[in-house]
Amino acid sequence: MKALVLAGGAGSRLRPITHTSAKQLVPVANKPVLFYGLESIRDAGIREVGMVVGDTEAEIRRAVGDGSEFGLEVTYLRQDAPRGLAHAVLIAREYLGGDDFVMYLGDNFVVGGIDGLVDRFRKERPQAQIMLTHVSDPRAFGVAELDGDGRVVALEEKPEFPKSDLALVGVYLFSPAVHEAVAALRPSRRNELEITDAIQWLIDRGHRVESTVITGYWKDTGNVTDMLEVNRLVLEGVEPRVEGEVDAVSELIGRVVVEKGARVAGSRIVGPVIVGAGSVVRQSYLGPFTSIDRDCAVIDSEIEYSIVLRGASIDGVGRIECSLIGREAEVTPAPRVPKAHRLVLGDHSKVQISK
Ligand code: G1P
Repeated sequence: MKALVLAGGAGSRLRPITHTSAKQLVPVANKPVLFYGLESIRDAGIREVGMVVGDTEAEIRRAVGDGSEFGLEVTYLRQDAPRGLAHAVLIAREYLGGDDFVMYLGDNFVVGGIDGLVDRFRKERPQAQIMLTHVSDPRAFGVAELDGDGRVVALEEKPEFPKSDLALVGVYLFSPAVHEAVAALRPSRRNELEITDAIQWLIDRGHRVESTVITGYWKDTGNVTDMLEVNRLVLEGVEPRVEGEVDAVSELIGRVVVEKGARVAGSRIVGPVIVGAGSVVRQSYLGPFTSIDRDCAVIDSEIEYSIVLRGASIDGVGRIECSLIGREAEVTPAPRVPKAHRLVLGDHSKVQISK
């Protein structure tokens, strides 16, 4: 069995963070979301990965390399433009050969991995196996309609009037039967070859398509709230570890990770919290569910339930909560007079100011 990992796409829903970075590399608990997927694939006993890339190819290659760090063999497959998930299968035809494969969307996060699903597929050998999850706004997903026995009868891509709240999760298992389906597709309304339509094609021709409903799923639905929530879920499972320096007056409570080269002084950290390599936390409070990435500075400040990306600095400000702070961003107090907010915000930024 092989894996086909999709790491193209623009990430418009996660702006402004994705203006400067591939969406699959957005970190959750200081690790790119894509890496969790690769680890799940490896843990399911798969070694060969075809990585479909687009404009952000260089960045993905820099992060993943030949895959050996993950125990994988990665082959890069270039997609000339985002022409849809089924198009990715089309261009990977030769790479996939006659093998079964798991297609994994690199911006999807499945808590607990995929071993169970892959095992089930290997035992039952349907033509396709999909995962579904209950979501609050199905219009942003492929949506499944089930019959009384829980069998999939119809799938619809981003419907205006969804027939259920069961969304297609971005992890699919296929037998080579899917290649015939993909080759028969016509572009959809949004001018893409939809994998949803390929699965519908299989259903229509009487092929066996199995489904499982899962919980613990995240994708970039465009609100930071979701990102903070998945960050929380992952942080809840971290093992405490202090590899950096923590001075005698600092207090670490609960699950706290201080990575190599990080320095904590005169501060109180209430976990789960992760402080990335090379970061400095001084005279500050870090509250639960906070991820501070590499090379950040948090000085004379308080922050809780937030994600701070690489190289950002927060200095001398009151309490920050529920925030996502981008790479190299600087948060500082304004001069005392005139009493005004001074903002330099990137395109598509969002700021909430408490009066
Ligand atoms: C794609 C699929 C959709 C699925 C979603 C899961 O949507 O087309 O059916 O529910 O992935 O991530 P897209 O990411 O192209 O909006």
